[in-house]
Amino acid sequence: MQGDKKILYSAVQPTNNLTIGNYIGAVKNFVALQEEYDCIYAIANMHAITVRQDAAQLRKNTLSLLALYLACGIDPQKCVLYLQSHVPAHAELAWTLNTFTYVGEMERMTQFKDKSAKHADNINMGLMDYPVLMAADILLYQTDVVPVGVDQRQHLEITRDIAVRFNNAYSPTFTVPEGIYMKVGAKINDLLDPSKKMSKSAENANGAVFMSDDRDTIIRKFRRAVTDSMAEIKYDPSNKPGVSNLLSIYSVFGGMDIADCERQFEGCGYGDFKLAVGELVADKLAPIQAEQAKLLADKQYLNDVLKSGAERAAHRAAKTLAKVYKKIGFYQL
Ligand code: TYM
Repeated sequence: MQGDKKILYSAVQPTNNLTIGNYIGAVKNFVALQEEYDCIYAIANMHAITVRQDAAQLRKNTLSLLALYLACGIDPQKCVLYLQSHVPAHAELAWTLNTFTYVGEMERMTQFKDKSAKHADNINMGLMDYPVLMAADILLYQTDVVPVGVDQRQHLEITRDIAVRFNNAYSPTFTVPEGIYMKVGAKINDLLDPSKKMSKSAENANGAVFMSDDRDTIIRKFRRAVTDSMAEIKYDPSNKPGVSNLLSIYSVFGGMDIADCERQFEGCGYGDFKLAVGELVADKLAPIQAEQAKLLADKQYLNDVLKSGAERAAHRAAKTLAKVYKKIGFYQL
């Protein structure tokens, strides 16, 4: 708790362009939650380098994500918004937490297994250690809640395990955080293969809608989305994964319940339905894209936001790190 508000932490990696899955599962909720919670949002560039990045592109993606956060409505006056590498305490706590984490636990992580298969030529230690750095991010700020998509559930569970393990070994040091998962949209799936999550690094870019896609591209991708042969617009994820995914997207972008969406499209053909989803998404993304472009033209402002965010984040992180160092016996001056 900070004052009378619970502390909320989340982060997004500045890799590639964000998809509407990242937006629906994470960023859109960050905006909605900023009134109720004491929010800290990061750009996780230290996580991003666990997969090889082009340096110039990573710098560009960093500012682009910052501008997107702001364009979506994250208010740097209300939240702490910062770049992970600007706060060295993340690396310092991650190192310490490494000694409270078992190799076997990391080997079992689904994301580690998936990414190892995908990047077989670069199974680096950072890729394996990814969840520990994530635990450090969260635990440094005495976080109560973490809004993420369901793909991050396992990482959140291991964060809780590490926190409890440390607290039991010494005395209560870390708040044990809870995940917040949205009822609709915690997992948006690929448009061409709705059994898979929509991913920034999708093999076929037509299966993912990027936040930077233009109107025609968005509509084209939705037109090609895989549905089924049942010709009924009903939410039934196990039997109708494609249609259900499109209904989730429509429901979130339209701010409507799934049931209302089903009613709206009763008797409608799949072609018209897919077009309606594409048009709605394009309509909603257009102002965000325009605002993002405007912000990207003002580098001084973006730098100021990062500077102020880093100062505030570092100040808070230092308190937890000092506590940890004292407990583990690091001699302090
Ligand atoms: P990243 O950048 O991969 O994803 C950012 C957020 O988007 C969510 N997400 C999705 N939600 C719904 N449907 C999808 N298809 C979809 N794809 C991605 C993710 O669940 C995530 O919430 N490890 C984190 C970044 C991170 C972090 C943290 C998060 C680093 N430190 C501390 C929380 C707390 C990640 O995978 O980001």
